[in-house]
Amino acid sequence: MADFAFKVKTVEPITLLSKSERKRKLMECGYNPFGLKSRDVYIDLHTDSGTGALSQDQWAALMLGDEAYSGSRSFDELAKSVETVFGYTKFIPTHQGRGAEKILYPLLVKKLKEGRGHHQQDKKSVFISNFHFDTTAAHVELTGALALNCVIREAYDTQTEHPFKGNMDTGKLKAEINERGADCVAGIIMTVTCNSMGGQPVSMQNMKDVYEIAKHYDIPVIIDSARFAENAYFIKQREAGYGDKSIQTIVTEMYQYGDMMTLSAKKDPMVNIGGILAIRDDMDLYRQVEMMCIVNEGFVSYGGLAGRDIQCLAVGLLEAVDENYLRARIRQVEHFGRLLKEAGIPIQTPVGGHAIFIDAGAMLPHIPAHQFPGQALANELYLEGGVRCAEIGSFLLGRDPETGEQKESECELTRLAIPRRVYSNEQLEYVVDVLTRIKAKAETIPGYDFEYEPALLRHFLARLLPIT
Ligand code: F0G
Repeated sequence: MADFAFKVKTVEPITLLSKSERKRKLMECGYNPFGLKSRDVYIDLHTDSGTGALSQDQWAALMLGDEAYSGSRSFDELAKSVETVFGYTKFIPTHQGRGAEKILYPLLVKKLKEGRGHHQQDKKSVFISNFHFDTTAAHVELTGALALNCVIREAYDTQTEHPFKGNMDTGKLKAEINERGADCVAGIIMTVTCNSMGGQPVSMQNMKDVYEIAKHYDIPVIIDSARFAENAYFIKQREAGYGDKSIQTIVTEMYQYGDMMTLSAKKDPMVNIGGILAIRDDMDLYRQVEMMCIVNEGFVSYGGLAGRDIQCLAVGLLEAVDENYLRARIRQVEHFGRLLKEAGIPIQTPVGGHAIFIDAGAMLPHIPAHQFPGQALANELYLEGGVRCAEIGSFLLGRDPETGEQKESECELTRLAIPRRVYSNEQLEYVVDVLTRIKAKAETIPGYDFEYEPALLRHFLARLLPIT
């Protein structure tokens, strides 16, 4: 069966710089592709965030945006979509996912501390996740809490086939809660799909099991929802009992297993900017969220977005759960993964929803973790083919906030994120050719050291130098 779900209506030109120009551009940006100008990039697989192509209905929605400061029609449209898709009625829009995180995580730590006796205020608070995304971990750490990851072991072995490598290790979760005391766990964060492990899905059973554990200990569950629809698609494909259910039915069930959600709407809902923070029952928490929204983002009906952005998101949320679209989307990523495997490139398997994760540690075994093989490969992709992508490994992980030691990443990965509805299969085949050429000269690729290392989220602004 063919998987075509759309055709192109608007085009944006791209150009490939010469090899010597690419070399110069990479040197000028400190060997960190975050510093590249997009006009100097040929195929941009840096992120699937905010880079999707809008549909004609979304473009039309932009014209309908109501720019009223409060009570806009656009907000009402969004409220309808949020309720239809997630079943939540209490939410705020935010400028993007991290806007929601910035509001929520300090409030959850405050609430946890209020529930403790005076003599216990010094106990360290923690959040436990299958895997915290980097901004999520940063917002957790800014509250003074620890961000613990408890994804299943299989996720770290890129060659192991497992249908739900994003699952939480429930044994480890319980052990952490018991060891630290439930009164120290401010929340359990289920990231669906699990971005940092390769866009790997979480099974419904795992979401249910984690929720039961959380309820036993009276800990709130937050669903970090950036790629919720892709997760639902994988449940439909891979989990017994879900093959005949609609994506919406699956999403509705997923959200039974959470108490609140943060959403970066720049991924599955395919808007260029936007986010959501929703709370199911906790009215007291919701009131505080509203107040902090006004301080940080804007009035509760616009949350840092223009009315047109909100109207566009109302449409995008519904398109995200369209099964025809999702099938085309996931199959494109699968096709890309299959070609890479055939070319002998070591990748996280099975491939995830939004990206291919190359096992750079396996591809460049001569580069030690502290010289960042994932970053070395990302730089080489630009040099060899004008392709931009991102490291997910020790470079991103950073240092332990308490000891200053480089944290040990269990995998050194390079992420090729696929924007939604943007590139053709031919363009992705070009990337396969680039990687094939890199593989043939892998042992000549250098590791990197810091020229400048920022204290927080260093991978965005760091400057590096190749080790010769
Ligand atoms: N949670 C997850 C799982 C994410 O992947 C992201 C962003 C966020 C939260 C933060 O959302 O960017 O809207 O503030 N991920 C992007 C990426 C940046 O490239 O994977 P945001």
